Amino acid sequence: MDLKLKIWRQSKSNDKGKMVDYSMKDVSPDMSFLEMLDVLNNQLVEQSEEPVSFDHDCREGICGSCSLQINGQPHGPGEAITSCQLHMRSFKDGDTITIEPFRAKAFPVIKDLIVDRSSFDRIQHAGGYISVNTSGNTQDANALPINKADADHAFDAATCIGCGACVAACKNASAMLFVSAKVSQYALLPQGQVEAKKRAQDMVAQMDDEGFGACTNTGACSAECPKEISLTNIARLNREYLKSSLT
Ligand code: SF4
Ligand code: FES
Repeated sequence: MDLKLKIWRQSKSNDKGKMVDYSMKDVSPDMSFLEMLDVLNNQLVEQSEEPVSFDHDCREGICGSCSLQINGQPHGPGEAITSCQLHMRSFKDGDTITIEPFRAKAFPVIKDLIVDRSSFDRIQHAGGYISVNTSGNTQDANALPINKADADHAFDAATCIGCGACVAACKNASAMLFVSAKVSQYALLPQGQVEAKKRAQDMVAQMDDEGFGACTNTGACSAECPKEISLTNIARLNREYLKSSLT
């Protein structure tokens, strides 16, 4: 199929940036979206033009780095998939596709389609850990009985890949879904109780420091999340935060 692409080009973080048009011919519907960008970049290199910078690593929905805003939607059309899991059969011959970086104050553009998501790393550093006795007397984690429903919910929360689609989807650029997933995966398990109070306070404080917006419960975050992280995690984060404020 033949396509028109409108791609955000920005040479460096303080460059103004603009949309640039590209034409592509004979794109296979079986290509992944990133493979289509690879082909475009080969063409640009052959024409001695600067290839389009975009982030990727695993290309199988695990690492969360392929964060593209495709036709105004984080990770493009299709439910519960990342940009690297999107295939060109989702588009039609003659389509125009806009491709932009995720837009948020806390995700500044580094180059073209690559944004700096180190704000997420700093939130994780603030509380996304547990203390474990590694002196040689460490208790086997399996020795602690855990309610099956809690284990399942903790696992679901832990599937968050830190892609940032929730922030890009939110009109307030809120990071509540991400933070709630990171807090929930520990809040539901006995291993997470030691730092529970400090975790909720520190991660929320870091989220605010990074310039993310407030949550107004629109639910766009969960609707666009490739891992279908549930809004119930936000309710749990609110409870954890309130509890830690009162004790
Ligand atoms: S909550 Fe979902 S959208 Fe947000 S960072 Fe995690 S996986 Fe990505
Ligand atoms: S490249 Fe890893 S999730 Fe897409």
